[in-house]
Amino acid sequence: MKIKSKKHAKLQKFVQIASKILCLHALIFVTALKVFHNKSELSHYIDQLKVNGKSIGFVPTMGALHKGHLSLVKKAMSKNNVVVVSIFVNPTQFDNQEDLIKYPRTLEADVLLLKALNARGIIVYSPTVRDIYGDNVRSQSFEFDGLEHEMEGAFRQGHFDGVGTIVKRLFEIVKPDRAYFGEKDFQQLQIIKKLVELYNIPVKVIGCPIHRASDGLAMSSRNTRLTKEHRKAAPFIYKTLKSAKIKFGTKSANSVLEWVDKQFKKQPLLELEYFIIADTETLKPVKRKSTKKTYRAFIAAYAGDIRLIDNIALN
Ligand code: PAJ
Repeated sequence: MKIKSKKHAKLQKFVQIASKILCLHALIFVTALKVFHNKSELSHYIDQLKVNGKSIGFVPTMGALHKGHLSLVKKAMSKNNVVVVSIFVNPTQFDNQEDLIKYPRTLEADVLLLKALNARGIIVYSPTVRDIYGDNVRSQSFEFDGLEHEMEGAFRQGHFDGVGTIVKRLFEIVKPDRAYFGEKDFQQLQIIKKLVELYNIPVKVIGCPIHRASDGLAMSSRNTRLTKEHRKAAPFIYKTLKSAKIKFGTKSANSVLEWVDKQFKKQPLLELEYFIIADTETLKPVKRKSTKKTYRAFIAAYAGDIRLIDNIALN
């Protein structure tokens, strides 16, 4: 009986110590996530990290984080000592004021999601508009070798000037070694690569695959604003892209365009804005297929008043 209680006491002590260690670890992880709202403080902190030889990965976002964003953060964590995640709804890249106002802002939930990754060395930068722009909330004008005139550039006035302005500024503040962008916004990814080349910014830009819900819908912060009916209809976009890919194997680009147009006309809950098959490098619409080039298909469609985009590699 005595032996049993001695063993029990030992076991209790062990459990107590183990749980203290676990709590301590949890505390370290929780306190390890720093949130900065001020660019000079962040920049100074990063300078110190760099002096200590730490590599910096960077994931710029507009927040309302989902698994797509988190896949970028995880990739960044696997290659860098420290990962900066910026959360900033950038006003200059919105051509539609209502979209800007209604864009979900969920900083507390975002920080919790990042904490749940249980990683040391994640830093959040969530600036105010004034911290980034001062009194002058305006974009710089860019030319990205014509990439800016295609698709999103044609349908969203000034969008890529806004994106170029914010990303260039964020690069100056964060000074990352590597920056991670999703192929979900493939045109944006190509434009950022061009920005880095044009301005000789010492950062490696890394493209990451599109993360999808189990029904195929590309994850997006805007998905939370879809009605139940529109959410149910939205996977049609990816389904159509997949069929277009198969058709592109044997048919001309034009006949695939016509086929996609017809499919959307049969779908009352979605309105096609554009379907384009473009050269992966120049993003110019394909005229005649060449076996030496790679192509991608791009869709923008409205589900009610929510604009969704998606794309797929064709060859
Ligand atoms: P945001 O739409 O928040 O996206 C941030 C990054 O996450 C982008 O690189 C985007 O391509 C990527 N991303 C979004 N959904 C994804 C998905 N389902 N799978 C993989 N990656 C995904 O893009 C922006 O913000 C802004 O334009 C920004 C670059 C932050 C400049 O303001």
